[in-house]
Amino acid sequence: MPVRNLKEATVAIRGGRTFDSHASSILFPLYQTGNFVHDAVGVDKGFSYSRVSNPTVDALEKAIAALEGTPSAICFRTGMAAITTLLLSVLKCDDHAILSDVVYGGTLRLFREVLDHLGVTGSFVDTSDAANVEAAVTPATRIILIESPGNPTLKLTDIAAVAKIAKRHSILLAVDNTFLTPVLQRPFELDADISILSTTKYIDGHNATIGGSIATQDTKLDERVRLIRKTLGTIQSPFEAWLTLQGMKTLPARLRFHCEGALRVAQWLEAHPAVKYVLYPGLDSFPQKELAERQQRGAGGLVTFELKGGAEAARLTLNHLQLCSRAESLGGLETLVTHPSTTTHADLDPELRQTLGITDGLIRVSVGLEDPEDLIADFDQAIDASRWSADKECHRPIVREGRLVHDQEQKEDHLSVVVEKR
Ligand SMILES: Cc1ncc(COP(=O)(O)O)c(C=O)c1O
Repeated sequence: MPVRNLKEATVAIRGGRTFDSHASSILFPLYQTGNFVHDAVGVDKGFSYSRVSNPTVDALEKAIAALEGTPSAICFRTGMAAITTLLLSVLKCDDHAILSDVVYGGTLRLFREVLDHLGVTGSFVDTSDAANVEAAVTPATRIILIESPGNPTLKLTDIAAVAKIAKRHSILLAVDNTFLTPVLQRPFELDADISILSTTKYIDGHNATIGGSIATQDTKLDERVRLIRKTLGTIQSPFEAWLTLQGMKTLPARLRFHCEGALRVAQWLEAHPAVKYVLYPGLDSFPQKELAERQQRGAGGLVTFELKGGAEAARLTLNHLQLCSRAESLGGLETLVTHPSTTTHADLDPELRQTLGITDGLIRVSVGLEDPEDLIADFDQAIDASRWSADKECHRPIVREGRLVHDQEQKEDHLSVVVEKR
């Protein structure tokens, strides 16, 4: 049945799936091999060497293409490998790119540490106002790369508005859609040329792999990116591709629960007296709620907030979490909580961080699929415990075997007070 007639949940499980003609296994086999035998000189079965292509990677590419609604997709060893390969495919010395100022830190570093040295320049602008994009266009601009929602402030960019500017100037528009995936945001329906995914996040969804993908309707660009991938050696490995193929089947189902849980956590945080503000596109208070509703099919699984106590309150709250994990990634089943200013965005100049709204007190939560009530209880006790810790100047957290422990007597006293209060 053609993919266009299938509903999203079906596409994620069945779309573009390659069947195993050898043994009819329900799961496509893992071709964990570096090379393939030629039947005769110049005669092969479509595969020769796994740096160029591999049947399991090919199966993942077809499945992602079905989800994206593109003729094909190209898979990479990491999300950064996808972005690097794309940019090296379309940019040469003296070319210019426009990027969102809240773009992923690795993309920013790619410009500073690699592309700048090759004579390629990048302008990082606030793409939430399309006029800034128009103003940054030069005769040398070849690509606009936006991230919406941006990380970690979840600032949105109007993709269709930027696409109009890109078309008018014959510039490619790439959207890093990692945070929403094609299930919650459809870049091609908004006139983008390229969709980028770090499959590491929601596509795999199980914190099991690292990977990336590029999809485009432009077959010439697809060919060019494949050539550069072969040259750089940035193709996905068969095993990671196989795991990702299994993980992505539940993507639409998972995202429904991620969105539901994130809204519950965001609403609870917003009502908490210790919380200064919450950024979540599903909240009425979100500054770009109208754009989120127009452009997205859901608000996503990420919630960002700041505590009134600032940096110290954020540090103590993070350290007191017992269920949620302190970790940098996002999009998996486990709830991960990040302190952007000391982790994902630590490389940025502190002044630039302030300008971008990435304050030292900011906390980003990737809401997983645990019961939201349990997550809320964890944030509740962590915020309470952090306030208690802050009150007791003399109390210093102790790290033992990589875990934070406290003076047991003091902590038990405190926790009994917290429990009584509830
Ligand atoms: C929006 C976004 N794009 C790209 C990347 C890079 O992906 P990877 O870590 O798979 O290389 C990340 C990683 O966090 C990301 O958040």
